[in-house]
Amino acid sequence: MNENANTITLNEQELRAYGRALGESLEPGAVLALVGDLGAGKTTLTKAIAEGLGIEEPVTSPTFTLIGEYAGGRLPLYHFDVYRIDDPDEMNVLGYEEYFYGNGLTVVEWADKIWELLPADAIVIELSYGKNENERILRKRNAK
Ligand SMILES: Nc1ncnc2c1ncn2[C@@H]1O[C@H](COP(=O)(O)OP(=O)(O)O)[C@@H](O)[C@H]1O
Ligand SMILES: [Mg+2]
Repeated sequence: MNENANTITLNEQELRAYGRALGESLEPGAVLALVGDLGAGKTTLTKAIAEGLGIEEPVTSPTFTLIGEYAGGRLPLYHFDVYRIDDPDEMNVLGYEEYFYGNGLTVVEWADKIWELLPADAIVIELSYGKNENERILRKRNAK
């Protein structure tokens, strides 16, 4: 259901389709900043993006490693989960700039934790719970 151009309510199947479409269409170097509570659907969306990129390797949650790198698709996928980061400076150790400003597709879960490091042209996707258990509200906007 369309609420306005940038806010949509999606069931899980629809959210996956949305993610696949992103994976099929995003340009090299795109940075997707995912924001939303635990269970909001950030990892589900990332898995669908990987599918849209044509990545066959299963995408797992990189909570402990902070970053997962997946080749074999239309573009490389760099999947960050920065939930455990307390200070954005910790991102330097990971060499985040190589990813954010590289030619792959970067997806960052819990992007609000490293807000100041996001490129100005990052795409922000906010996910929140809907009225029903299987609904999520997705809002898309630019970072800066
Ligand atoms: N509309 C929906 N979109 C995405 N996930 C949904 C939806 N409805 C229910 N779910 C469930 O919510 C959970 C989302 O988990 P996950 O993607 O790991 O969230 P996060 O990474 O934001 O913590 C999954 O168990 C998924 O099956
Ligand atoms: Mg997650």
